[in-house]
Amino acid sequence: MGLLGKLLLVSVTLTALVIGYIFYTLNQVPQLPELENTWWGAGQPRKLDESIRNFKINISDDILHDLQIRLDLHSHITPPMENVNFEYGFNTDYLKKVVEFWKTKYNWREREVFLNKFPHFKTYVDGLDLHFIHVKPQKVDKNIRVFPLLLLHGWPGSVREFYDIIPLLTTPRKDVNFVFEVIVPSLPGYGFSEGASKPGLGPAQVAVVMKNLMERIGFKKFYAQGGDWGALIVSNMGTLFPKSLLGVHSNMCFSNSLSANLKVLLGSLWPTLIVDEAHVDKLYPVGQHYAYLLEEMGYMHLQATKPDTLGVALRDSPVGLAAYILEKFSTWTERSWRSLPDGGLTRKYRLTDLLDNVMIYWVTGSITTSVRLYSEAFTKAQFALKLDSIPSITPTACAAFPNELAYQPKSLLQEKYLKLVQYTDMPRGGHFAAFEEPELLADDVFEAVKIMDSKKAT
Ligand SMILES: *[C@@H]1O[C@H](CO)[C@@H](O)[C@H](O)[C@H]1NC(C)=O
Repeated sequence: MGLLGKLLLVSVTLTALVIGYIFYTLNQVPQLPELENTWWGAGQPRKLDESIRNFKINISDDILHDLQIRLDLHSHITPPMENVNFEYGFNTDYLKKVVEFWKTKYNWREREVFLNKFPHFKTYVDGLDLHFIHVKPQKVDKNIRVFPLLLLHGWPGSVREFYDIIPLLTTPRKDVNFVFEVIVPSLPGYGFSEGASKPGLGPAQVAVVMKNLMERIGFKKFYAQGGDWGALIVSNMGTLFPKSLLGVHSNMCFSNSLSANLKVLLGSLWPTLIVDEAHVDKLYPVGQHYAYLLEEMGYMHLQATKPDTLGVALRDSPVGLAAYILEKFSTWTERSWRSLPDGGLTRKYRLTDLLDNVMIYWVTGSITTSVRLYSEAFTKAQFALKLDSIPSITPTACAAFPNELAYQPKSLLQEKYLKLVQYTDMPRGGHFAAFEEPELLADDVFEAVKIMDSKKAT
């Protein structure tokens, strides 16, 4: 064998070894971590009241008066450039209209009555005073089973997103032999739920807290549904607690394993290996999709690194807070709305409903604690748990809404969700599925649980 032949043999062997090593590493399943109950409250762990207390939203006159003063003072607004809509962020000409509406038409005391139409509760879990809504179906026939369903919101959302879907889930349907009772918590640090006093409460730990909350309420086994952070948290719950989770429904399924990411990149060469013909342009060209994510994800880097600095500004200015939050309700509902003067906000929403959500952040002063979740999600400790690479054996269903920020085909999700019982390409809707398309989402949840329940019986 000549020198060239030897070199060739060596390089072929090395390449084979490297490829073999990569596949070996990718197929290694990390061990499921055991996450312990942790005291997230202030000071030393101590015994707290474990009862479930009735709760009513009733914000003090002082907070509302202070808000009115701040809204009246908002004179420092830089006008947008000519012919610019939402491309540079929230259009300040339109922002003035939002503020005018907020000051003169939006009536918090009336909205409180609306928000209190469902029964609210609080209870201490893992050192935190947590808030949740709990709605049971009315008048259920004896042959109809009632399944507990945890509904989890994300950022910059709140329990408000679920107001229209709650009655759809808790009302029995013709020819369906089950219905839901729903538990809708504010995530720790969001709205009426207390935030952590200690670092480390990331999405994996929130999964533990939420399971503990469900057990406190009396549910050892339950279904869970979520979007945004709620989607990641219910996915974590399915991965960590397959004995407790009867099934998971997500409107933002995402498998962020190394293997899934590599496959997306490799798919550039042959897209239909990864995604069906009709959805190729949802993933490819990859560069175009990453470029879009870069354009829209600046907030995430900021929140993941300096949440408290950002929080100072947003906590001090209701107008700034509204611009920051509502910008997301424009672009994440429909990306083309960036080129509309009002960001398309009133095409799908009412300003009153959008302001309810902003108010939940304002009156509770929770914006800083809410954005800290990003910081806790992107830590070495959180990545070390490797939850992305541990397959979930909990029955899972994914609803892929067409305007969601990122798209993942079924082929990639099946690696993470070993029992992916349903994957629906939804006909319309974006990131805030429950808020935007409550009927579509409720239908999909019923369909998914029908399948999960029938498989459980066999
Ligand atoms: C709200 O709290 C105030 C002051 O504590 C009280 O007077 C009022 O009745 C409460 N309103 C409701 C709707 O509970």
